[in-house]
Amino acid sequence: MNDPVKTMKQEVGRVAAARVQSDSIVGLGSGSTAAYAIEYIGDRLSKGEIKNIVGVPTSFQAEVLAKKFKIPLVTLDAIDHIDIAIDGADEVDPQKNLIKGGGAAHTREKVVDSLANEFIVVVDDGKLVERLGSTFLLPVEVIPMAVAPVMRSLEKLGGKPELRMGVKKAGPVVTDQGNLVIDVKFDHIDNPGEMEKTINNFPGVLENGLFVGIADIVLVGAIKDGKPEIREF
Ligand code: 5RP
Repeated sequence: MNDPVKTMKQEVGRVAAARVQSDSIVGLGSGSTAAYAIEYIGDRLSKGEIKNIVGVPTSFQAEVLAKKFKIPLVTLDAIDHIDIAIDGADEVDPQKNLIKGGGAAHTREKVVDSLANEFIVVVDDGKLVERLGSTFLLPVEVIPMAVAPVMRSLEKLGGKPELRMGVKKAGPVVTDQGNLVIDVKFDHIDNPGEMEKTINNFPGVLENGLFVGIADIVLVGAIKDGKPEIREF
């Protein structure tokens, strides 16, 4: 049976992948929506619609998918820029600031997405919020020995932190870098730029999921009358 949510995510991924041009270095995002973009970039490459593409993966997941869809990969020491990056998000505010990290990949995602000349975000309309933190907990990647003091600092900041636990895996989620993730509930994030810097200043924090002023284009998918509809936000 046709799953409209899946079709909508595929369509957003396809529309984003259609913006990739030949001879470009492409940041490959993580999550279920970005996965479709990677698939469609591979599809366009195999059909000869685009040529000479190299990808920079934002996670182990993106790397595996890029290999599956035969997109050549490079590391950041082999290039001096990224032309376009396509990545998902967990929340998007009216200023195109984001919360990311639902897949615990936000550290590498921020490195890659912020280097891109054009960063395209692919989401469904359920991710649009008036204020960041309204629906999603803020992910914070922390080195394992610093979990307790960082949790205390996050509490002092007004947050309710919890260590992210694995699914079908005993114990906590371990990131691609071998670290842990603390998810923090804030009643409101009034100043995402300040919050991003404050949290990253806690010793032991590697990176948090606030992406402020990085996104250029947000492609939003919705289901209207059972059909996917994509608009630019
Ligand atoms: C991973 C991410 C993802 O991009 C984000 O969680 C969105 O994923 P999905 O498209 O599956 O909803 O930030 O760290």
